[in-house]
Amino acid sequence: MHKQIAAANWKMNLTLQQGLALVDNLVNQPHILADNQQVVFGVPFPFLQAVKRNINGKQNYFISAQNCHFQKSGAYTGEVSAEMLKSIGVDYVIIGHSERREYFNENHQMLSEKINLCLQNDLKPIFCCGEPLSVREAQTQNEHVETQLRESLFHLSEEQITDIVIAYEPIWAIGTGKTASSAQAQEMHLHIRNIMAHKFSNGVADSLSILYGGSVKAANAKEIFGQKDVDGGLVGGSSLNADEFTIIIKALK
Ligand code: PGA
Repeated sequence: MHKQIAAANWKMNLTLQQGLALVDNLVNQPHILADNQQVVFGVPFPFLQAVKRNINGKQNYFISAQNCHFQKSGAYTGEVSAEMLKSIGVDYVIIGHSERREYFNENHQMLSEKINLCLQNDLKPIFCCGEPLSVREAQTQNEHVETQLRESLFHLSEEQITDIVIAYEPIWAIGTGKTASSAQAQEMHLHIRNIMAHKFSNGVADSLSILYGGSVKAANAKEIFGQKDVDGGLVGGSSLNADEFTIIIKALK
């Protein structure tokens, strides 16, 4: 059974003190995660080690970086490599978020190199895909997402692909308060699972966690996560509020 994951994406928000207070509040909730459930904190680079310390010993809580560089090492001032993230005990790395594709010009090729470096370093990529509004309006979102998967993931082996988590995030729903309907989310998640079954195997497709992202909040998490092929969420704004995110965690299947 694929894992159900509530992944927080803090983006460029909070100070270290605010972040640690939020994490402490969340991990000290009486709610215990089931074996198939995980909570992942996608936090800014400078907070990773401190957050890791604060989740130490808490079953099924993990940390994630929000990015890594596509080169192994070298003269890339200001950048962070997959190997560095591994060396401080990072578990997951968000790869190909639409904000990085848009503002930092990340293309399919770079993303496939980042995926390779994550896997070489035993880091689990959370690979983001999803269409802009213009593509949704032209009703070509299925082809758009299929291209993103093909160009950055299809070179992997069946064994490697099982270490990937996919996050479907329609760009028109990110930070806009406008969520995809649960039917739209289910339709795309099933499409993604079918693509992976066709390219890899039914076993791979069945084991894959496919998260939904885009204005997930306490009020809609249960409905969205309740869809058959939605295995949790990648949550931005609502992950910055302990009460909101607690309800989102509790909405996991
Ligand atoms: P949002 O962001 O929940 O604020 O829409 C989601 C994301 O970008 O991962």
